[in-house]
Amino acid sequence: MNEETTTAINEETASGTIEFSGEGLQELEEILQCYPNKKAAMLPVLHLARQEFKTITPEVMQYVAGLLDLDPIRVFDVVSFYTLFPSEKEGQYVIQVCATLSCDVMGARSVVNHIEKKLGIEVGQTTEDGKITLKKVECLGSCGTAPMMQINDDYYENLTEERIDEILDGLE
Ligand code: FES
Repeated sequence: MNEETTTAINEETASGTIEFSGEGLQELEEILQCYPNKKAAMLPVLHLARQEFKTITPEVMQYVAGLLDLDPIRVFDVVSFYTLFPSEKEGQYVIQVCATLSCDVMGARSVVNHIEKKLGIEVGQTTEDGKITLKKVECLGSCGTAPMMQINDDYYENLTEERIDEILDGLE
């Protein structure tokens, strides 16, 4: 981490106070009991932080580092390595369309184009109402049911334009 980033983390942290909900704190305790030491629990705790705060901002990294008795730099390194920890605000629904080989061959590009057209956004963007973010990702391990996408924690497979319309219209 460079000096600029360290300063950004420290400045953001100084101004804010964030904390897991009661439920989150309880889940944290349960996670910590499953690992030999706090450092080993970093990934699941970051997943929990993502659930609680939606984005992993510098302030959240500092908070997680404090919980795990780690230098914030260690947390920053992990967050910057994994794309599944968003550092920018995402929509209530995050659509991840698999664009790897099997899905590509089976029409992932058409899936992306259709969603872009229907939502009026491009890959990497969020709808104006903040509801839906669209992303392209690598293989999600469901190649036999290509083309497919993941919305939050759910998989949607064997996609057709009609099916996509149904799914998107069904999002609350
Ligand atoms: S290639 Fe799309 S899920 Fe594997």
